[in-house]
Amino acid sequence: MTDPISSHRDGEVLVVVSNNPPVNALGQAVRAGLKREIEAGLADDGVKAIVIRCDGRTFFAGADITEFGKPPQGPSLPETLDAMEASDKPVVAAIHGTALGGGCEVALACHYRVAVPSAKIGLPEVKLGLIPGAAGTQRLPRLVGAEAALPLVVGGDPISAKKAQSIGLVDAIVSEDNLEADAVAFARSKIGQPVPRASEDTKNQDGVRDPDIFDKFRASQARKIRGFDAPNAAIEAVKAAGELSYAEGVKKERELFMKLMTGTQSAAMRHYFFAERAANKIDDVPGDTPLIPINKVGIIGAGTMGGGIAMNFLSAGIPVTILEMQQDALDRGTGTMRRNYENTAKRGRMTDEAVEKAMGLLSPTLNYDELADCDLVIEAVYENMDVKKQVFARLDEVVKQGAILASNTSYLDVDEIATATRRPGYVLGMHFFSPANVMKLLEIVRGKETRKDVLATVMQLAKKIGKVAAVSGVCPGFIGNRMLSPRQQQANALIMEGANYWDIDDVLLEFGFPMGPFQMGDLAGTDIGWHRDPSKIETIRDALCAKGRFGQKAGKGYYDYDEARNRTPSEETKAIIADFAKKEGKPQREISKDEIRERLLYPMVNEGAKILDEGMAQRASDIDVVWINGYGWPLYTGGPMFWADTIGLKTVVEGLEKHGLPVSDYLRRKADAGEKFNR
Ligand code: 3HC
Repeated sequence: MTDPISSHRDGEVLVVVSNNPPVNALGQAVRAGLKREIEAGLADDGVKAIVIRCDGRTFFAGADITEFGKPPQGPSLPETLDAMEASDKPVVAAIHGTALGGGCEVALACHYRVAVPSAKIGLPEVKLGLIPGAAGTQRLPRLVGAEAALPLVVGGDPISAKKAQSIGLVDAIVSEDNLEADAVAFARSKIGQPVPRASEDTKNQDGVRDPDIFDKFRASQARKIRGFDAPNAAIEAVKAAGELSYAEGVKKERELFMKLMTGTQSAAMRHYFFAERAANKIDDVPGDTPLIPINKVGIIGAGTMGGGIAMNFLSAGIPVTILEMQQDALDRGTGTMRRNYENTAKRGRMTDEAVEKAMGLLSPTLNYDELADCDLVIEAVYENMDVKKQVFARLDEVVKQGAILASNTSYLDVDEIATATRRPGYVLGMHFFSPANVMKLLEIVRGKETRKDVLATVMQLAKKIGKVAAVSGVCPGFIGNRMLSPRQQQANALIMEGANYWDIDDVLLEFGFPMGPFQMGDLAGTDIGWHRDPSKIETIRDALCAKGRFGQKAGKGYYDYDEARNRTPSEETKAIIADFAKKEGKPQREISKDEIRERLLYPMVNEGAKILDEGMAQRASDIDVVWINGYGWPLYTGGPMFWADTIGLKTVVEGLEKHGLPVSDYLRRKADAGEKFNR
């Protein structure tokens, strides 16, 4: 292997360069090379300053995550950085791309930081269930203050070079195309001056003067960080930076870091990091498959779903033609899209110009012929096979050859839809999740005949519009809804057997889901699909609707709601359920939360096993990606399949058997062999 670290001289300045594609992760060879070159520079009297820079697309993007969980190999990053910071020769970090995690910590240990305007800097360790582990939590607050450090360390989102300069994290912004020369000139201007060291700075005293900032920050993030261990550890570490000496603070950081590193949450979140990237790859579709250019998109249906889907493309700068059958539906749909954009602008997350730019790319129409030159058309009409087939037959007639035709169906057979066209190779499913402009997941449904270039194009397009994509084969409900179905069946069965419906919601909330099925039912409206005849009571939902319990919008559904939409369990609903169960001859009993949890979640794992066995998902981790991004499965458990691996497949099988629930052959085989879903 070639040495990833090299150096060259520019007069009195030593330039140390890392070249470790793709992202200059700080693996063992990089750390060893850095240590060697820096030590050599510090020992060489001819060297008066050092610049550290990276080749390729980015400055160090952090520690090498593939090394985590393996025995550590020296030199450690902190020892190299401490020696460097202690020197009297100015050391300058020259940043482009993304200086993340350990990369940001390298920069913090340098005496100065210069960055190109497009650079981004951040400490994303919390997203891996960790906190910075090379003194980032101790140097950053000292350099920029605890208040400015908290969102970076606890939130994990990177900031722009400009923002970094405004908080004192970057000393100078240099020209985009001349980084090395500008950094060398900057370093030269500092030769002979006393060096500033982040570890000795005192801006962290803001947190000592006003210790409330930590609790206030925690409260402001309460919803986002619920259930996660790392954000609280991050707050603790930043607080410690103000209370302890630097050496003590570093020790505290290490303790917190090691505890997280050996815990299940970080293992789960690291699994997810690689799962998301793996999901983007299709085993038999080569990475260099030629793509079909997508310059214009058509959407059929301007309802909630069609409008939300359209917004994804408009926001990415891709023109959209949206089609409806009636003018008033078209006007309503485009009006909603505009209002959604304007609300985003009101919240400061978009400029007014950006709203106009996005809406300016939208062409509403009632005429199919205007879709003729689209490169991709996505159908988002209601779920009915005959209607979908009619739409696809019509599209096949009017839309140019070579264009992709996609269905947003969440359940129907994409292969059957494709038979309505003469181009089944260009047909696939693009299953967006509501609200489609917000939800991250895009389930891409690969039909029997879907061409490889069509798949590759849509995968790449998903990335462009900011979605996380996962591929499913054609089966009822694909990956996501297919696994939701046994959970819903169990939820319904449990309340018929006497479980409290609020216990079912609470079990899922405690597990980490944002909401349970009955809360969801109330939010969506219990009257969705209701026949509107109060005398005809065939389901619990019918019984609720007969009493006007239509959900949140009516102030009562499964739950009673107050003005602020807080829910309380309803005696009336409990009685409705008990009456219904009696009528059906179902005996009632007390049901524990443990039983509820097992009966809700284990059948999902079993369905996931069947999906894998049938080849409907390429890999177990794709299922995890679907459930985390589309259905709120808690990230810190790694998704249903990783979670099952963590608790043991044998436990899942035994649980299913205990409750008299089916166990698939595949799950049983894996459990008997002591294997896991994820390798
Ligand atoms: N370690 C190992 N591999 C990494 C990596 C890392 N830190 N970061 C990225 N990679 C790999 C990816 O797995 C991917 O591999 P693949 O091509 O085989 O799938 C490849 O590099 C390219 O990554 P992306 O597809 O994500 O490329 P993008 O251009 O979309 O994004 C990025 C680049 C913004 C740098 C993004 O990769 C990223 O966010 N990386 C993780 C950054 C991070 O979390 N750093 C903190 C690490 S923890 C740490 O530093 C601890 C320290 O405090 C001690």
